[in-house]
Amino acid sequence: MIKSLPVTDFVEYPQGNVLLRDLRWKYPVISHGEGVYLFDTLGNQYIDGCGGAFVSCLGHNNSDIVEAVFEQCKKVAYINGKHFTSQASEDLATLIASLSPPGLNKVAMLNSGSDAVEAALKFALQVHAEKGNLKKKKIIARTPGYHGNTFMALSMSARPAYKKFFGMHLSPILFVDACYEYRNQVPGDYFSTGADFYIKQLEDLIQKENPEEIAALIVEPMGASSTLGSLPPNGFLERMQKLCEKHNILTISDEVACGSGRTGKFYASQHWNFEPDVMVLGKSINAGYMPLALVIVQQKHLDVIHQNSGSYLHAQTYLQSPGVAACGLAVVQKILKEGLMDNCTKIGSYIQDQLMERLKEHPHVGFITGKGMMMGVEFVKDRSSKKAFDRKEKVAEGLAATAFKNGAIVWVSTGMADDVNGDGWVVAPPYIMDQAHADELVDKLVNSIEEYFKK
Ligand SMILES: Cc1ncc(COP(=O)(O)O)c(C=O)c1O
Repeated sequence: MIKSLPVTDFVEYPQGNVLLRDLRWKYPVISHGEGVYLFDTLGNQYIDGCGGAFVSCLGHNNSDIVEAVFEQCKKVAYINGKHFTSQASEDLATLIASLSPPGLNKVAMLNSGSDAVEAALKFALQVHAEKGNLKKKKIIARTPGYHGNTFMALSMSARPAYKKFFGMHLSPILFVDACYEYRNQVPGDYFSTGADFYIKQLEDLIQKENPEEIAALIVEPMGASSTLGSLPPNGFLERMQKLCEKHNILTISDEVACGSGRTGKFYASQHWNFEPDVMVLGKSINAGYMPLALVIVQQKHLDVIHQNSGSYLHAQTYLQSPGVAACGLAVVQKILKEGLMDNCTKIGSYIQDQLMERLKEHPHVGFITGKGMMMGVEFVKDRSSKKAFDRKEKVAEGLAATAFKNGAIVWVSTGMADDVNGDGWVVAPPYIMDQAHADELVDKLVNSIEEYFKK
């Protein structure tokens, strides 16, 4: 019998055989989770302020989801998308289509946000090619922004630190500014005049690069780890869509982090009447019970493929797998049945208000923003000049480690000031949080911020 590492307290490199994500972090060992809490083997309790990476939206140990997956897997867990479809995947796709803007009604089921972003981009390129638009190859993304860690998804992400060792294998991408309220360059009021500014920037780039050569624009309607849940200016996303339509540039809304109900609507883009050609969901769509990401496309584009080559050239082993689809179906049904999108609006604004109130005088809290259960805080060295800390100080990490020690988990974000510097937290709690949980989370976060900066 193979004897594995007895995991009773901590694991740190080089112990054990798991390739640990951070080779310098001392990992507590999780024994179990319950609702919004996680428990480690030493008996420490953590309130989950970010669902891991904005994933565990129904909290931990949700028996309805476990049972739905169990029941499906007893019938059939896996089939290949080349041979069969299944009731579970048909039901999930129908439910997703019913929640999507008109026309967005064909759903591919993949494994991760990165996979789905790649697949979305391939879809856009294939549609142009099948229409004979062979020059349309260029892609526009935004900075700061994040779309995943595989080569193409990483190419489209404005994350120099993540790209450091892979340069020559990454693809050239065109970038425009993402809408980050705190550090915007808009000459007037961000919300009322920002759309003019960002539209002009985009239009200028399109003209410079030749609209005939631009295939797609990928955006996070609300950036999560990149712009801390900051909101776009009024009218921007709608006008951006119209501009892209005018130039036959397909729009991809990356809602891996902000979608699936987190902001109070199923898609974040629905707050701003943005109806893209392709939607991408991930993370909370399966609440962490199984890996799943979705690509939802406009049927009119798929019709073009149908009339030409006959199949969308993207398949992976777990495409449309029934066990995974049953999980997604149970998660979305639960979000709808229990009114959890409304809870995201209610408890999310309560948390944001509490953080704003309690941190409004704090000299190192520059900005608090968000919508629903997608919120963020940017920490600064100097509040009046918005000067960021030097990245070498690792302030966001130190703050999060203090919160972790105090039993609260938040997501560390960096680089939002100038691609390198910038220290932030994303607070993205499970949709099931109630007010008492919210108070506990806010207390732990505020106390941890005060403790860290007292040092
Ligand atoms: C907006 C966005 N897109 C794509 C991804 C990539 O998802 P995954 O890590 O599941 O590949 C992420 C992950 O953080 C994300 O936040």
